Amino acid sequence: MADRMGWFLRMLSYLVMVPGIVCPPAWGAAGAKKIILDTDPGTDDAMALMLALNSPELDVRAITVVPGNVTAGQGLENALRMVSLANRCDIPVAGGAEHPLFQKLITAEFWHGKNGLGNIELPKSKCKADARFGPDLIIALVRAYPHEITLVPVGPLTNIALAIEKDPGIVPLVKEVILMGGSIKGGNVNAAAEANIYNDPEAAQMVFQAGWPLTMVGLDVGDKTLFGRKQLEQLGKTHGPVNDFMYGVTKFLVELSEKFGDSGTPMYDPLAVGVAIDAELVTAPAMHVDVETRGEFTRGETVANRRNEIERNVLHHFPEGDRYVIEGLDKVVPNAKVSIDVKADKFLELFVSRLQGK
Ligand code: RIB
Ligand code: CA
Repeated sequence: MADRMGWFLRMLSYLVMVPGIVCPPAWGAAGAKKIILDTDPGTDDAMALMLALNSPELDVRAITVVPGNVTAGQGLENALRMVSLANRCDIPVAGGAEHPLFQKLITAEFWHGKNGLGNIELPKSKCKADARFGPDLIIALVRAYPHEITLVPVGPLTNIALAIEKDPGIVPLVKEVILMGGSIKGGNVNAAAEANIYNDPEAAQMVFQAGWPLTMVGLDVGDKTLFGRKQLEQLGKTHGPVNDFMYGVTKFLVELSEKFGDSGTPMYDPLAVGVAIDAELVTAPAMHVDVETRGEFTRGETVANRRNEIERNVLHHFPEGDRYVIEGLDKVVPNAKVSIDVKADKFLELFVSRLQGK
């Protein structure tokens, strides 16, 4: 454990040392996108994938699987069955990490059903997994398409961190990272942490500090974007293999949300794909974000500096004793666009319309 922690701290320091890694990111231009979806499928992951596969603005170049909602093996099986359902065996689907960098995996069958897909049994896949390790596939595609690939992680960030660790040179070659994760209004796992960050805080800190253009699509907007009975009814009026699968998944989620007194299920992962389709779906001011990795109550919290400044404390020696004196404010360089508001109805209409009849 200690040597891996040492590796993590070395990695973090390396990212700070390498010129160009910590320069303020130049945000990527909007437009048609090649994307890699890194996912822990997962019911809302399934919604994200099916939206991506049915949106002409996006070109899904690969799906990499990370453990989170379900184990790595279950996630890979789920991803393969979903691309088969969508008749997209052309898309490489690769397994990745088997566990978070430094902690045991925490799986969420409680929220996603025993198999991670709302207990819906899809037909066996016609597709075969790509033999490459997920992080290696990410590296290969980013280097094959420099400045064209948008990474869309919607699970714990383990695979993304492993890709950076193996080849830090990909950071300036990635067009943008649009991730589902984090929160600046409190957690969903506990008071402070959102699930994807909580499941691998060290990986998340590496991703947030890497220096690439990064948009955080967290609970702050996901919790304002609820898919409820109205959308379920709309999706139930049409049919097709993907449409019917999505109806089953959303029905599972809506019923589960109602058990907890909510009026719908938050569109966490699909909204990250929505932002890849149309960045104007969210309002996302630039902030500096750090991920807490040590706090007893706050491990996994995304700590955002909204003012992008920090007080400068200078040590003084006085006769009555040493003390620090505040002598000014220092600028803090933003490293993320943090989504704080969303056009929820516009996104829900987009989601339903893209899947109806598919
Ligand atoms: O906190 C929500 C996130 O955790 C989503 O990505 C969901 O799929 C789970 O992974
Ligand atoms: Ca997910």
